[in-house]
Amino acid sequence: MNILDLIDKKEKRETLTKEELKYIIDNYLNGTIKDYQMSAFLTEVDLLGLTEEETINLTDIMLHSGEILDFGIDNLTDKHSTGGVGDKTTIVLAPLVASLNVKIAKMSGRGLGHTGGTIDKLESIKGFKTSMSLDEFKNQVDKIGVALVGQMGNLVLADKKIYALRDVTGTVDSIPLIASSIMSKKLASGAKNIVIDLKIGSGALVNNLEEAKELANLMVKIGKTNNKNIACVLTNMDEPLGYAVGNSVEVLEAIDTLKGKGPEDLTNLVIKLGAIMTSMALNITEETAIEKVKENIFNGKAYQKFKEWVKAQDGDINNIEIAKNKQIFTSKEEGYIKNINALEIGKLARKLGAGRLSKDDIIDLTVGIILKHKVGDYIKKGDVLATILYNEKQITEEELLSCFTFTKEKIEKPKLIIDIIK
Ligand code: URA
Repeated sequence: MNILDLIDKKEKRETLTKEELKYIIDNYLNGTIKDYQMSAFLTEVDLLGLTEEETINLTDIMLHSGEILDFGIDNLTDKHSTGGVGDKTTIVLAPLVASLNVKIAKMSGRGLGHTGGTIDKLESIKGFKTSMSLDEFKNQVDKIGVALVGQMGNLVLADKKIYALRDVTGTVDSIPLIASSIMSKKLASGAKNIVIDLKIGSGALVNNLEEAKELANLMVKIGKTNNKNIACVLTNMDEPLGYAVGNSVEVLEAIDTLKGKGPEDLTNLVIKLGAIMTSMALNITEETAIEKVKENIFNGKAYQKFKEWVKAQDGDINNIEIAKNKQIFTSKEEGYIKNINALEIGKLARKLGAGRLSKDDIIDLTVGIILKHKVGDYIKKGDVLATILYNEKQITEEELLSCFTFTKEKIEKPKLIIDIIK
């Protein structure tokens, strides 16, 4: 076997066997296959796709390229978001479902590009520890039902190397490569129940519905083939989720949501995702789970669990700092808000210092953008559109206003939950 013949085989649209795919991954990892050869292969895959069988096989090979975690805890539940702007869902969901005895052992990432990362957001809580030993992690899940840390262990080594190459060869948007990358990591994390929040829109990895459905179906198929309970929820990411975009500002909005005082879109999303996670983990109907989830938001148990979780990871809930300088931008137009461009808002938050351009950038956890309205709201000239919390770096009024478009026609609020694939 050699890489040139395999690239050729793919070019002729023939199906690669599992052995052939394993040859490619193993030899790329050990350095026999060079970056330029792997790039050629990834480009073929990006252009021609992979069959479902090839994708399932590739996922399995990637999964076995590193450590596979087993926490020895039955029925663990995990949630993954493909990333968006203002996405603080995990910070609400994890304690919410843990307050219903659903066990959550989760690894999250840092922000890169225009999207934020849960680990950065949690670190805006003074003292919050985002790394611990595997034993500490297990003990915390056993004791309080929830633990969340940055990436640990040497999971899916193939993804680390291949993702870095995809990033610089324009092959990040291949559906089978995304499916195998996400699912190999989810499978390696050891959860029995997996819920994926697949964002669609300007601020998301995928921005058309057809591709999102294809990706969702593939991930669900891979999950089921691996004997997991899995659901993929397709959600709108054309406008930011909630109102706050940044780090500490998002944690504060997550806390409001846990107290039942959060934005409507975020609240509805956590109720739906929380109900799916709870129904899978406790083997109850989704209708019953929805009632339980709502009850624990409104009776304070979810917030109680959040406090317990933050304390267990050494965070001081009374010490979440936001930048002192404020700038308020108002509308120059009148009409219904037609669009608030999530991608551009994410980039502006990054410009303020809330996000990274490259992975070694140091970010300012205290800055951010707090939007005042959602798509479909009616605005008069002079109404506040956003408050900017800043330190050294600022954005201009023009930059902020260019994220908004208006219409004279009354428009429907966009549907947040577009589809659920199980
Ligand atoms: N997130 C991942 O983990 N992998 C991808 O390929 C894309 C998004």
